[in-house]
Amino acid sequence: MSPKSLVNIGDYDREDIFRILRSASKFKQNPNRDLLKGRVCATLFFEPSTRTRLSFETAVNRLRGRIIGFSDAATSSSTKGESLKDTIMMVSNYADLIIMRHHLEGSARYASEISPVPVINAGDGSNQHPTQTMLDLFTIYETQGTLENLTITIVGDLKYGRAVHSLIQGLSHFSPTFNFVAPEELHIPDKYKAFCDQKQIAYNEYTDFSPESINSADILYMTRVQKERFTDLMEYEKVKNVYVLHNEMLNDSKENLKVLHPLPRVKEISQDVDDNPKAYYFQQAKNGMYTRQAVICDLMGIEMR
Ligand code: CP
Repeated sequence: MSPKSLVNIGDYDREDIFRILRSASKFKQNPNRDLLKGRVCATLFFEPSTRTRLSFETAVNRLRGRIIGFSDAATSSSTKGESLKDTIMMVSNYADLIIMRHHLEGSARYASEISPVPVINAGDGSNQHPTQTMLDLFTIYETQGTLENLTITIVGDLKYGRAVHSLIQGLSHFSPTFNFVAPEELHIPDKYKAFCDQKQIAYNEYTDFSPESINSADILYMTRVQKERFTDLMEYEKVKNVYVLHNEMLNDSKENLKVLHPLPRVKEISQDVDDNPKAYYFQQAKNGMYTRQAVICDLMGIEMR
């Protein structure tokens, strides 16, 4: 039997999510513990990353584990033609856990099925980014005091944004209402609308970034247009700056509103928003370290002492 992995946020039920959030909260109080002493974790990043890789590596370092891996596939033997299967089999000889980002959708699932050690999906193409969702849920709970019955406005690239796709699934346990704001070219794929219908989750779709979509929200989740997923860069140019959040657009928003973004941002949040107390994206990214500590320990069966 394959070891327990985190490939898709849908693999985690409501109780799993709360278990991780409780653990992350303890790591936030004290992230420096001896829990991974003698363990080795591998980070295999076939696609670029700042936050995910560095927060995973910091998470391991602060738990006294060791890290191996690569941040650029060009330095790995995949450039010589080594298959993903062989890469996973080799790395699992050396490491107790594999954290992998890959451009191919389904790559993490495949890796988890052949790997003798747990695999964490750090993003597979446009499909899933489950640890991003864990840190998003942690941040939503931290700022709202609940995950239940919130209105979440998600803006930008809803077609290719894997953080968006995971977030919809992760929040589905908590009776959300979604406002999906996207241009026609980047609207939410039908399968996620069907998922919401099946779960009886209310959603509205907008092509304009209207005051209504901002002022009704508890969470305004901005996203970047995912340039790297476009096959035709002319199409990217048409939509790249379609929505930009400026500070004054938050004037009539709810008191409890927080603006989140998985980051990196390009131009979709103007820098004049950064000093608004409703801007919470940098704190959100910091929470990634604690939630990833919680996920790693959970998968490795390590209990907090
Ligand atoms: N949010 C996120 O995945 O950021 P990175 O691409 O920098 O890891």
